[in-house]
Parts: sequence; C-alpha cells; structure tokens
Amino acid sequence: MKLHSPVCIAAFLLLGLVGPGISRNTPQEVPDKGELYGHMEVIEEALGKLRRSLRDPARSDEALDQIVLMQEKSLACKGLVPHLITELPVEERAAMERDYRRVMVDFLIAQLELEAALLDGDPDAAKTAFKQVRSMEESGHDRFTREEE
Ligand code: HEM
Repeated sequence: MKLHSPVCIAAFLLLGLVGPGISRNTPQEVPDKGELYGHMEVIEEALGKLRRSLRDPARSDEALDQIVLMQEKSLACKGLVPHLITELPVEERAAMERDYRRVMVDFLIAQLELEAALLDGDPDAAKTAFKQVRSMEESGHDRFTREEE
C-alpha cells in the first residue's frame, strides 16, 4: 500500500480520531463511594432546585418533579445500609439498621407532606414541609455518617 493511497490516509485519520479517545477514556482511579452516597447526591441537587422553584407558585410543576425524584431516591436509600453501620460490631448492627430505616420512613413522610401541600396549592404548608425535609439532613447525618462524609 502506497503511503498516500486513500485507504492509508483514511487509516491515519481514523487513528488520529480514535487514538486520543482511547487514552482519554482510560478508567481513572476514582474511589467508589457507594450507591447510598450516589443517591444522596441526587437528593441534594433536587433539594436545591426545589428550594428555587418553591419561591414561584407558577413553577409548582417543576417543584413536583423534584419532589418525586427525591422520593424515588429516598426509597432506594431506605433499602441500603450506611457505611457507618457496616463498621459496627455485629451485635449492634440490627438495631442501628432498624433506627436508620425508621428515620428514612419519617424522611419519606415529610416529603409526601410536601407533595400534598404542592398538590393542594398551599404555599404556606409547602414552606413548612420543605423546612422539615431540609432539617432532616443534619440530624440524619449526625446519627448515620462519619465526620468526613
Ligand atoms: C434533604 C436531606 C438530605 C440531603 C440533601 C442529603 C445529602 C447527602 C449528601 C450530599 C451525601 C454525600 C456526602 C456529603 O457530601 O455529605 C450524603 C451522605 C449520606 N447521607 Fe444524606 N442527605 C439528606 C438526608 C439524609 C437522611 C435523612 C439520612 C439518614 C436517615 C441520611 C444519611 C446519609 C448517609 C448514611 C450518608 C453516607 C453514605 C454512606 O454511608 O454510604 N441523609 N447525604
């Protein structure tokens, strides 16, 4: 094959396109923070969007989308076990798992209250329910996460 034949040129072009792509896509050493952590990050983002859309009654559809996303992610979190609990002595784990699950149930109930207020078109009740949902972040983390999480 001559170096400047069309096939050869095409091969060079292809290598130029694919080559750097391969090195860019080489897996990086990203520590796996786990499924629960990933869901929590989505919850945090949804909470921020929710806070902004609650300021404007005309955006209640956006608020409803975010609250549904939070509920789905919270339900997934309820079925998982925080890292902190997996590190406890075996005999302490069952009680802590139950406590965590119970708090998650309250967390979901608060989110349903918020959804109900939005569907009822009651901004005051929505504000109160939103504060309740948001307040559960700190108390939940105090009980079920390590300092650095
Ligand atoms: C609106 C409420 C909440 C938000 C926005 C939120 C957000 C987050 C975020 C962003 C993380 C990742 C680590 C970090 O950056 O801090 C996290 C981790 C975590 N959160 Fe939440 N969270 C909320 C409520 C809760 C509740 C109610 C609980 C417990 C019942 C909880 C339990 C945990 C646990 C256990 C982790 C560590 C993950 C693991 O152990 O694998 N969170 N949360």
